[in-house]
Amino acid sequence: MKIKNICCIGAGYVGGPTMAVIAQKCPEINVTVVDINENRIAAWNDEDVNNIPIYEPGLSEIVAEARDRNLFFSTDVDEAIDKADMIFISVNTPTKTYGIGKGMAADLKFIELCARQIARVAKSDKIVVEKSTLPVRTAQALKNILENTGNGVNFQILSNPEFLAEGTAVDDLLNPDRVLIGGDIDSTEGKEAVSSLVEIYANWIPKERILTTNVWSSELSKLTANAFLAQRVSSINAMSELCEKTGADVNEVAKAVGMDSRIGSKFLKSSVGFGGSCFQKDILNLVYISKSLGLNEVADYWEQVILMNDHQKRRFAANIVKTLFNTVSGKKIGVLGWAFKKDTNDTRESAAIYVTDYLLNEQAEITVYDPKVKAEQVYADLDYLNSRPEEENRKRVKVVNSPYEAGDKAHAVAVLTEWDEFVELNWDDIYKNMLKPAFLFDGRRLLDRKEKEKIGFEFYAIGN
Ligand code: NAD
Ligand code: UGA
Repeated sequence: MKIKNICCIGAGYVGGPTMAVIAQKCPEINVTVVDINENRIAAWNDEDVNNIPIYEPGLSEIVAEARDRNLFFSTDVDEAIDKADMIFISVNTPTKTYGIGKGMAADLKFIELCARQIARVAKSDKIVVEKSTLPVRTAQALKNILENTGNGVNFQILSNPEFLAEGTAVDDLLNPDRVLIGGDIDSTEGKEAVSSLVEIYANWIPKERILTTNVWSSELSKLTANAFLAQRVSSINAMSELCEKTGADVNEVAKAVGMDSRIGSKFLKSSVGFGGSCFQKDILNLVYISKSLGLNEVADYWEQVILMNDHQKRRFAANIVKTLFNTVSGKKIGVLGWAFKKDTNDTRESAAIYVTDYLLNEQAEITVYDPKVKAEQVYADLDYLNSRPEEENRKRVKVVNSPYEAGDKAHAVAVLTEWDEFVELNWDDIYKNMLKPAFLFDGRRLLDRKEKEKIGFEFYAIGN
């Protein structure tokens, strides 16, 4: 079946960029991205394409090319479902904050609402595609909801997890290592559904990179990929602590180890801890699924990746306190970087939030600079932790528009996101305006130790 109309429910970090690229590469398909968040849709439709709600290198150009040609953003979810032959579900699947599985299981309420809405609205046969990251066997639940409407509509359910990383979303979508499509490959209808999605991607992706599997393998591969990636970061971060105690340098160790082609060099960059909306959520979900199936050893194995990450964030913050003569009370600390990695304005689960919270508990005064994150986001992130009254967060945390202001009269500066511009700063100027001794903490191994020590900084870097 040739797809003519696509609807994507969820205009977030995944739905927006993914659909923009499909629309760009398949001009004959109409793509409508819908969301219940009116502000988000208004921003996607903003006349000035630089105001779209997600910052990703190259994304605004693609949106400018396809928007209002065959790419549309709307809040009319029913209409888009009704028109579509294929519906992607790309809504958020956060960790549950209540009830059974609280703090671990994925909250599937948004997914279920989508399924019920599709079931209610659909009058013609549809292919429903799981784009969100979901626990293995979610497709079964979707099937149960969709197939019990009694309206005679046939649904095929596919799993097509997304592997893009933020900051490189457009590149990842244009040139992915692989695209994974899971479907009911034992039935003719299932096979047809799979091949109609394969045909869409084949417009720009070589067929040998489009992988088809059964639905459960596809769902589980997504959780597995994130668990493996995060595990590498926690592994190298564990080594960073050992390096600091022994005179080894974690960058040298990572290089030496990564040159073994069986290990590979990627995802071995030691840091103040991984952040982002997915690694922690997906591993917790994996731990929960394993526990629910009675696989306690499997659960414990993966949980350790999270425990190590929590330890890394905490020990970085604790080291600041220790180095500043065991107290940061009333001291000004400049935080450079709030996003969870460079080239994104996303701050979800960013290490900066936790390091700052720790330092605030030690009564520090914090000044934050990030080139892409707005002040209200910084406050929202801190308020969400509920560690102190909201007024206190506003009183003790200042968000500024220049890195130099963040360092002005500070006792210490901490680099928490690896923005390129931090390498190029005039560090002599920053040093001059700081209190002495001027402490510099590099949570990203971004800065050159020798250069900074020559300027006069007391320098600390992860794993060195
Ligand atoms: P997001 O929060 O940025 O976007 C989700 C959007 O869905 C929100 O705008 C929300 O308003 C909307 N929504 C929720 N329920 C809805 C409903 N019933 N009807 C219409 N709209 C609804 O989330 P995201 O980062 O895009 O992630 C979406 C999924 O993709 C998650 O499962 C995530 O794990 C997965 N994923 C994310 C990334 C990433 O880099 N962020 C990468 C791969 C996979
Ligand atoms: C990650 C995966 O890389 C994507 O494949 C996946 O689709 C996505 O999660 C998801 O499911 O949401 P993302 O979180 O956007 O993508 O970014 P990453 O580049 O993976 O970085 C995650 C965190 O790990 C960041 O805080 C980053 O700074 C940190 N990291 C990464 C390190 O500390 N060291 C590294 O070597 C790599």
